[in-house]
Amino acid sequence: MAETFPAQLQTRLQDALAKTSVAADLPDGFVAEVTPSANAQFGDYQSNVAMVLAKQVRTNPRALATEIVELFDTADGLCEKPEIAGPGFINFRLTGDTLKNAVNELLADPAQLGVDRAADPQTIVVDFSAPNVAKPMHVGHIRSTIIGDCLARVSRFLGHEVITDNHIGDWGTQFGMILWGWKNLLDEAALESDPVGELLRIYREVNAKQKDDETLRDICKAELVKLQAGDEENLAIWERCVALSKQGLQKIYDLLDVEFDHWLGESFYNDALAPLVDDLIEKGIAEESEGAICVFLRDDEKLADKPCLIRKSDGGFLYATTDLATIDYRVHELGANAVWYVVGAPQQLHFDQIFGVARKRGITADLQFIPFGSILGKDRKMLRTRSGDTVQLADVLAEAVERARRIIEEKNPELPDEEKAEIAKVIGIGAVKYAELSQFRMTDYIFDWDTMLALKGNTAPYLINAYVRTRSIFRKLGEDFSGADEIVLGEPAEKALALKLAQFAEIVPSILNDFRPNALAAYLYELATTYHAFYEQCPILSSEGATRDTRLALCELTGQVLKKGLGLLGISTTERM
Ligand code: ARG
Repeated sequence: MAETFPAQLQTRLQDALAKTSVAADLPDGFVAEVTPSANAQFGDYQSNVAMVLAKQVRTNPRALATEIVELFDTADGLCEKPEIAGPGFINFRLTGDTLKNAVNELLADPAQLGVDRAADPQTIVVDFSAPNVAKPMHVGHIRSTIIGDCLARVSRFLGHEVITDNHIGDWGTQFGMILWGWKNLLDEAALESDPVGELLRIYREVNAKQKDDETLRDICKAELVKLQAGDEENLAIWERCVALSKQGLQKIYDLLDVEFDHWLGESFYNDALAPLVDDLIEKGIAEESEGAICVFLRDDEKLADKPCLIRKSDGGFLYATTDLATIDYRVHELGANAVWYVVGAPQQLHFDQIFGVARKRGITADLQFIPFGSILGKDRKMLRTRSGDTVQLADVLAEAVERARRIIEEKNPELPDEEKAEIAKVIGIGAVKYAELSQFRMTDYIFDWDTMLALKGNTAPYLINAYVRTRSIFRKLGEDFSGADEIVLGEPAEKALALKLAQFAEIVPSILNDFRPNALAAYLYELATTYHAFYEQCPILSSEGATRDTRLALCELTGQVLKKGLGLLGISTTERM
């Protein structure tokens, strides 16, 4: 259904403007960019195209703007005659009919709410979360999990074929320590009651012990070598550790409502590593250097003196070797045209290297490293627990739900217990996710319970509450929205809300430009505040006729867009709170 609708308002204005500038005999190939106005006083959209072009063709920007505006064709009724402001900005104000049509189009398109599906759908593997087995899943993994899940949801909504893959670290050097710990320190009862906690305890204890005990370090290494050589006892222990860890992780993903199509961890690629290295040597891509095998990326200035090591002199393979085998599998077996890696910024070099090697091997898929910064404590240092340990994701989520519960107890004590628990989960988990997604991913943000759980401000509770308010109108009305005979947008607050709603279609595709879920978060916050202003200024249930129908329609659409938008961020909504 969506395809029959006219393109987004922004695109339509851009096209109209581009035509004008061609008529004005301006250089071709330029981009007539039109952006939403920050201030409604200056219209709905604006463009600085006259200022940009005036520089190129050496003319006065205002004079050029005047020429463009004269040529601008308003016959299709999309907008009023544009106005010129300041040094040469061109301001556009949409007509009442345009806004009215936009509302009707949204009402007719509840599935996509105006968002077009990609004209050229890709098969995208999204690699995110990827914690290491039997090692703590820390807050860095939470960023990856939340951002990766959001990007997968958005891409799917845009019509791409998305494959989510949890590339867990299930074959790393940590197993040397864990194997020794399992054999010497294991508390079976603890393993029974809290497997992940017990594995973590073992890991931490051995890790501390081996720090100043060389003999123990060697023993652990020997355990690892035995495992890698296929020793039966060690393999059996390894399998149990992986299975227990996966169960623990799955609980967290269930709570977060995150799903993976695959869990192809590092160990899945074991058998592919030796042939891969041989192939690279044979093709002359890899070479020997001091007994090890490396790929030199000499064409790339940044990497020229940073060869990618793929086999150590002792014959062992590396993280990079596994990742190269993983790219092969994703491209050749899963049919990916794009592979996105949501991994912390410190791994930049690793990904530069493996992407370089992959390209040397003729891989043409679009490989994207999508890094993110750190989460800081209130002291602006890396987030830690009071005892100085890395913060565990499971603990963060449990605390979030508990804190949200306290807020609900206060706000709405009469709700049934079960509903309180459900709402606490939605609000608590939503708050943690939203704190993450409302920041640009490279920003180091401060993890602060009070800010993220606040009912006012740019938070999940505020947005969920805005959704709840749209729903409560219909509860008061005693029935669901049943359509509007006629849309009439009279008040400025109604027009402003209609415009915001129509812009959902512009925001969603833009998220993928630079992988910025925060653009969607910012939009939803603006929508909620615009709704709030509308709600204050325009009585709904006490109004009549077409005005009432229109206002109910705007409430309904605001609810739909908030729910869909939050859903794309991976955040659920509740009907009451
Ligand atoms: N397990 C790694 C870590 O915790 C992240 C893996 C990211 N994905 C990848 N294909 N290398 O640091």
